[in-house]
Amino acid sequence: MKCNLGLKKCPKDSLGTLKCFPKVRRPFGIVIFGASGDLTKRKLVPALHRLFEAEIFPDEFFLLGSARTQMSEENFRERFEVQPEFSKRCHYTRVDYSDLTSFKTLKRKVMELKKKTNAESVIYYLAVPPDLYIPILENISKVGLNHEWARIVVEKPFGKDMDSATKLEETLQRTFKEHQIFRIDHYLGKETVQNILVFRFANFIFEEVWNNKFIDHVQITIAEDIGVEHRAGYFENTGLLRDIFQNHMLQILALVAMEPPASFDGESFRNERVKLFKSIRPFPLEKLEEWIVRGQYGRGTVNGKFVPAYREESGVAKDSTVETFVAMKLFIDNWRWSGVPFYLRAGKRLPKKVTEVAVIFKKIPHSIFPEVPSEEIEPNAIVFTIQPDESIALEFQVKRPCPGMYSQLLSMNFKYEDFFGVKLPEAYERLLLDVILGDPTLFMRKDDLEVSWKLLDPVLKTWENNPERFSPHIYPAGTWGPKAADELIERDGRKWRKP
Ligand SMILES: NC(=O)c1ccc[n+]([C@@H]2O[C@H](COP(=O)([O-])OP(=O)(O)OC[C@H]3O[C@@H](n4cnc5c(N)ncnc54)[C@H](OP(=O)(O)O)[C@@H]3O)[C@@H](O)[C@H]2O)c1
Repeated sequence: MKCNLGLKKCPKDSLGTLKCFPKVRRPFGIVIFGASGDLTKRKLVPALHRLFEAEIFPDEFFLLGSARTQMSEENFRERFEVQPEFSKRCHYTRVDYSDLTSFKTLKRKVMELKKKTNAESVIYYLAVPPDLYIPILENISKVGLNHEWARIVVEKPFGKDMDSATKLEETLQRTFKEHQIFRIDHYLGKETVQNILVFRFANFIFEEVWNNKFIDHVQITIAEDIGVEHRAGYFENTGLLRDIFQNHMLQILALVAMEPPASFDGESFRNERVKLFKSIRPFPLEKLEEWIVRGQYGRGTVNGKFVPAYREESGVAKDSTVETFVAMKLFIDNWRWSGVPFYLRAGKRLPKKVTEVAVIFKKIPHSIFPEVPSEEIEPNAIVFTIQPDESIALEFQVKRPCPGMYSQLLSMNFKYEDFFGVKLPEAYERLLLDVILGDPTLFMRKDDLEVSWKLLDPVLKTWENNPERFSPHIYPAGTWGPKAADELIERDGRKWRKP
């Protein structure tokens, strides 16, 4: 069995355990801004701890948490369920993001830990609300912490629109060099997302039919059953288009639709991705509602439980028009995809949590079976389930065991867990390791953001400038979105799948 990191043999008992991940040989440090927050507690520290437990880290490394909250190093360490050996490498220093003196104190602490551990690189992780990215970058630069040995990790959302994304990029480019900047989209760290590439480019049979001659359309669904939860403050300023489409959705779309890169190295892969984004046809703004549907959840029942409307959630304005659902149709204007619609939808408070890519093939041109007309024979599909049960299914017709020549659609399903018998590594484990090793392949490049904002910024502006025309369609929580989303696809004689 070959491992995903190269041609070495990957022993079966090491799969899913991180044992076959490359080791970090040189001491390093990581400084987390916003270390008192949700991302640090739920994702970053657990991922770093698992890498440590898998003996991937060298003996010498340090984690320095910083935030405005006043707490002792001991209190900071107590926040995480980690081994004592990991805990003793964790430190904390308070920082006021707008105060230069505070960054001078931070610098002293970083330099002291760097010296003590012989760290050859130091990573700054911006786990703070996006408004703080620029002030933190400026202050890192003013106190001279932006050395050649430093790297910076920026979380989505990358700006609120084209202008703010451009400002953020200008600051990033002024304070760090491109090879030091890691723009993270954790979807790209998921094994099943990366598997789309292996499925397409390590098999001959599928890639041959991966084009407009064989494929009728593609559907991508990113559904959550939860509502806005405790993130109302963030979501009210963001909305679903920025939160999901500008990053996760477009990244998945690129993997499904991009041309094969010459090799899976950072530049070739990212060049193809940007090329794909540039081929997406801009939306016709004068008839935008025919291409993009905005929705917002009302009251309803999800998983048997009554839930309030978005506008009734704590922290949400009573008359909020922020969208919690988006469905869209787009075309990719190149030779491979000409004429093939891509239907994309994502939303909160839908019936279940699922991320699915379904590639639907054309119907057979003619049925030889008198009992079943060709239009009644459902087409083949290849379905990637990215979460929660990672799998790939091939849907095809089989004969029903009856005297007539009747057929039935059957799904041949490969489930990661059944076959490999392991829990897949968390996306943050893979991506944090890549940052520490300095591998940018699975991160976004400056031009990725430029082209994605170029596509979505006019949509956001059109919505903002025409609030009545684009007020969101209310859908009952626990359904697959508003009726208008069904109409969007049904106008073309197709239907949304029910994942
Ligand atoms: N949570 C996730 O699952 C997730 C997933 C993907 C991306 N992200 C992104 O990652 C970043 C961090 O997310 P998070 O959920 O950890 O955020 P968070 O918990 O809301 O905030 C992180 C920390 O930032 C500080 N902070 C919050 N509001 C502030 C304000 N107005 N002014 C100054 N400091 C403030 C707080 O620390 P102090 O008060 O101690 O300074 C807080 O502990 C965000 O950009 C988010 O969009 C998060």
